[in-house]
Amino acid sequence: MDINELNQFAQQLIREAGQRIRDAFSYDLEIETKSNPNDLVTNIDRETELFFIERIQAFNAEHRILGEEGMGETVTDLNGVVWILDPIDGTMNFVKQHRHFMISVGILVDGVGKLGYIFDVMREDLFYAIAGQGAWYNDSPLRQLQSLPIEEAVIGVNARWVMQNEQVNHEKISDLVRTVRGTRSYGSAAMEIAFVVTGKLDAYMSMRLAPWDIAGGVIIANEVGAVTSTLTGGPIDFLSSNHFIIANPSIHDVILRDYIEVLC
Ligand code: IPD
Ligand code: CA
Ligand code: CA
Ligand code: CA
Repeated sequence: MDINELNQFAQQLIREAGQRIRDAFSYDLEIETKSNPNDLVTNIDRETELFFIERIQAFNAEHRILGEEGMGETVTDLNGVVWILDPIDGTMNFVKQHRHFMISVGILVDGVGKLGYIFDVMREDLFYAIAGQGAWYNDSPLRQLQSLPIEEAVIGVNARWVMQNEQVNHEKISDLVRTVRGTRSYGSAAMEIAFVVTGKLDAYMSMRLAPWDIAGGVIIANEVGAVTSTLTGGPIDFLSSNHFIIANPSIHDVILRDYIEVLC
């Protein structure tokens, strides 16, 4: 398989999908809920995933697609070429703000991440990586992340974490919020990961993310030295949902050691 040819194809496909999503604002969105009243999905999420599936299968019928909306076949192993795809990451932003939502794509070969993409649809900004060759923000190569003390870090964290909850020790998270320089919450995991790999954030963590939220981002992270793991320091599994952290290498371990206590 020619990785450069696959990269060209994927980039063109992602940009085309982005154009279709931008065009979709001119007709009515059909908004539904999934697991709870705040878990939104639209006809555009589903149509975009279908668009990817049809185009990828025309490119190579052996490639498989693991997508959030489940429009393709069920993928239970990572043999061969697997695309892990979130057609719209940040659906609430898409519906409410008409901005700040991403297309997230990771392409794995036999379970190893080879190509990663995060595309800011409204800004037409592409963050991407080719494993072993580097990462780019549009045409600019991304640099290795520079070290910094935790006191100077700006971190992506959900405000609910500082309230009492069943998932993490909220007092330790409150300590973390007091210690760092600032916190942000953008509403798209892929966007927050894109900010960490470009040094606009120094860490981002979440209690539950799915493979399609993080696959593209983890592949980009590897190329700039950002560390990704579960909140207990374990490896990322591209077939199941789990808690997640991406951080500048100088603060990853200290966050896990001093500020994170997973309760469930
Ligand atoms: C969601 C966003 C959100 C994160 C959720 C994800 P979706 O993805 O990334 O920021 O907090 O856990 O499910 O549903 O908009 O693709
Ligand atoms: Ca969703
Ligand atoms: Ca998502
Ligand atoms: Ca989604």
